[in-house]
Amino acid sequence: MNEKKTARLELDGKVIELPVVYGPENEVGIDISSLRSQTGFITLDPGYANTGACKSGITFVDGEKGILRYRGYPIEEMAQRSSFIETAMLLIFGELPTREERTNFRSLLRENELLHEDMLHHFEGFPPNGHPMAIMSAALNALGSYHTDLLNIQDTSDMRLAAAKIISKVRTIAAFAYKKSIGEPAVYPDPNLSYCRNFLHMMFSIPYRMYDPPQEVVRALTLFLIVHADHEQNCSCSTVRMVGSTEANLFASVSAGVCALWGRLHGGANSAVMDMLDYLHREKLSVKDYLEQVKQKKFRLMGFGHRVYKNFDPRARVLKRAAHDLLDTLGLQDDLLDIAQELEEAALNDDFFIERKLYPNVDFYSGLILRALGIPVPMYPVMFAIGRMPGWIAHWYEESQDPNMKIHRPRQIYMGSKERKYVPMHKR
Ligand code: SDX
Repeated sequence: MNEKKTARLELDGKVIELPVVYGPENEVGIDISSLRSQTGFITLDPGYANTGACKSGITFVDGEKGILRYRGYPIEEMAQRSSFIETAMLLIFGELPTREERTNFRSLLRENELLHEDMLHHFEGFPPNGHPMAIMSAALNALGSYHTDLLNIQDTSDMRLAAAKIISKVRTIAAFAYKKSIGEPAVYPDPNLSYCRNFLHMMFSIPYRMYDPPQEVVRALTLFLIVHADHEQNCSCSTVRMVGSTEANLFASVSAGVCALWGRLHGGANSAVMDMLDYLHREKLSVKDYLEQVKQKKFRLMGFGHRVYKNFDPRARVLKRAAHDLLDTLGLQDDLLDIAQELEEAALNDDFFIERKLYPNVDFYSGLILRALGIPVPMYPVMFAIGRMPGWIAHWYEESQDPNMKIHRPRQIYMGSKERKYVPMHKR
């Protein structure tokens, strides 16, 4: 690409030159940081669809080609060959860990899997039907009060410890929230188990009866968490970076990320997909009729479409295959998987979706894996949050290390009333 160094902009007869920024993957951006001071103008970009918030070296997404890489490693290879903890270390610290580094980090996770017993009162503060995302966000923020030495991270060892505490304890929080919601006693983590196997133990063991899942189940959960681990400047990651830009602590920042992820247009879509599939199945609605209603804009085809992917979301491919493999291994047949495939087939051949470049995204098949694992629908966005935690931590850390970090403070175009005089009550 012939790299132009500047972009020319003509405004009110005045021409200004703005620097152009090139990334190693041929992404280009116009640096407008001097625009207002030079012209008095700002840009307007609702939803930031055309606006880069930062430079980042963590994750690369090419939406046109359906490419996703963590620190340069393709998601397909990471899903096939890596573990969730190794993926987390790669995202946070920038390189695949050596055997010794991985062993040491795993020890940190083991040493930090318990919650302070006083934290268990937090779960009592929620009604039995309290949504686990509300519990997760509250508990993550509360965690900071139990680790005040990590509220002001000073160096890499602080970062490593804080990352280990959050990545380890987020499982415990999720499992304890689930157990409370079904009236079963909390099952404490077992330091002899791997990350995913330990989570499944806390979720499904009961006193004196250990849950010992087949390796295929553990593998499916591992793969689910790997493909959710990061996705550059998505809404929840941008939230974590925005909160972190005020120098708020890591616990508060990831707690805010959970809240952003909860929305059904974002991480909450995985449960919305299951509700949608269940609705079609329960009402015996034909895929054709349902898609007609989608095309009439009565509702959205949940799990389809993406701000960045205008081609297949590579994670959807990985998860679709994993859902099939898991159901085959477990000898399960799921009508909802059949409906999902029929919906995908029909949508991919329908002009309404083709014209709008709407493809299955990460949320379209992910819920079918969680359903086969026995995880209830309200927990689906929680599972997304467990997977995304390393990505949020990596971005918070990258931003905190940036000497040019500035507090996020977008501008606006004011459209309200012009100046007017106060009207006393008797004249209103
Ligand atoms: C995630 O950003 C990330 O990276 C997110 C994520 C991550 O890993 O962090 O990938 C995770 O959040 C995936 C997305 C999960 N959400 C859903 O599945 C909800 C359903 N999808 C959408 O609502 C929508 O596609 C978004 C929110 C994902 C993207 O919305 P955009 O980019 O703002 O697109 P848009 O709303 O402007 O839609 C463009 C057109 C519109 O039609 P027209 O006005 O041109 O006629 O496409 C239509 C929309 O109505 N459209 C859909 C649709 N998504 C967009 N129509 C039907 N069904 C859909 N799902």
